[in-house]
Amino acid sequence: MANIKLFGTTDSFDIKNGDILYNALDDQGLKLPHGCLSGSCGACSIEVIQGSQNLTPPSAIEADTISAVRQERGFQGKEIRLSCRARVNGDIVIKKLS
Ligand code: FES
Repeated sequence: MANIKLFGTTDSFDIKNGDILYNALDDQGLKLPHGCLSGSCGACSIEVIQGSQNLTPPSAIEADTISAVRQERGFQGKEIRLSCRARVNGDIVIKKLS
């Protein structure tokens, strides 16, 4: 079991270990922007505030997309992940990007 907390809110919920973050949020009615759902567009990006070690490591494709998102949207220095690719294996605190 893993807990997801939305930074700056009281929203928090438990999911099964190994769930894809995007799907877990969608199951809770939290719709993130999305496009490809395969790690190449960056639309589903979120910021990880705590617990990044509890997400599966990014693949090479995800890492390339994260790099592009950081540069294009000015998110240098932030822990960015693609919610459609990251699997959750422990507690995390995340923040939606605008
Ligand atoms: S929806 Fe395209 S990278 Fe996640």
